[in-house]
Amino acid sequence: MLAGRDLISIHDLSVDEVFGILDFAADLKMYQKVDACPDFLKGKTLGMIFEKSSTRTRVSFEVGMYQLGGTALFLSNRDLQLGRGEPIKDTARVLSRYLNGIMIRTYGHDRIVELAKYADVPVINGLSDLLHPCQVLTDLLTIREHKGKNFRALKMAYVGDGNNMANSYLYGAAKVGMDLTVSTPAKHKPDEKVFDNALTDAEETGALLDWTEDPVEAVKGADIVATDTWASMGQEAEHDERKKIFAPYQVNKKLLKHASKNVIVMHCLPAYRGEEITEDVFENNAHVIFDEAENRLHTQKAIMAMTMDY
Ligand code: CP
Ligand code: NVA
Repeated sequence: MLAGRDLISIHDLSVDEVFGILDFAADLKMYQKVDACPDFLKGKTLGMIFEKSSTRTRVSFEVGMYQLGGTALFLSNRDLQLGRGEPIKDTARVLSRYLNGIMIRTYGHDRIVELAKYADVPVINGLSDLLHPCQVLTDLLTIREHKGKNFRALKMAYVGDGNNMANSYLYGAAKVGMDLTVSTPAKHKPDEKVFDNALTDAEETGALLDWTEDPVEAVKGADIVATDTWASMGQEAEHDERKKIFAPYQVNKKLLKHASKNVIVMHCLPAYRGEEITEDVFENNAHVIFDEAENRLHTQKAIMAMTMDY
């Protein structure tokens, strides 16, 4: 289905491909409980380029590759010649001669697009400033586990910064037909082009996608509320200023009073308690949040097996 393809954005996937990844991830998760994982990627190697920090992405890709019978290489830009200015297009062509797939976490999304253009092997987006597709596919799997398979019956709210997570939720919700309202300050809306693309995708599934400046409006009747850090990687210098701007967007007990009685709260982590989420809300939803973290492993194993097993 995805053999030889890149996974750069959920927008690039068909509706069937999105559900194909979720189903395969769920199968791998179940299978792992009863037996060893099939070695779909025996003898294959994934290179993992990190130009930003990571706990979950690094460990889940590396362990996932091992469980699939392959090997993963951690390639930090502190060590690669890429970090000293070797062009991404040269790096792509060199690494394609050694590796069977490349996962990259970087700043500008255009770097991933450039890498994929010049690489002969599948490229997987492990987060850019614009998108975090592996996380949102994982979140869809987690939503399905906690709220059932009928995405069309669900209403989700994302509250906080209009960042890579907000953008990817728009793409994800559009593909599975789930209603999503994003609530951010007017100056920190999701990417305009992403919103437009998501609205077009949503025509196929009937998902209602909306934006509001009012977080209360967004969470009204929501079955799922998600948030993320107010200062993403690369925005550390703006942290104090952002804390003031985003204060009305904190996911706390008071805000959640407006949500559905059985609301679940999601967070891709790392979380900043007392900022985008309160300690009590985080801990009350820890069972969901850590399922979400675990599911990175299963979802990415599905993605790697589907793209690299060719
Ligand atoms: N959620 C996520 O991508 O976590 P890391 O930054 O630790 O990889
Ligand atoms: N928006 C966050 C996500 C971290 C997984 C960031 O880009 O830092």
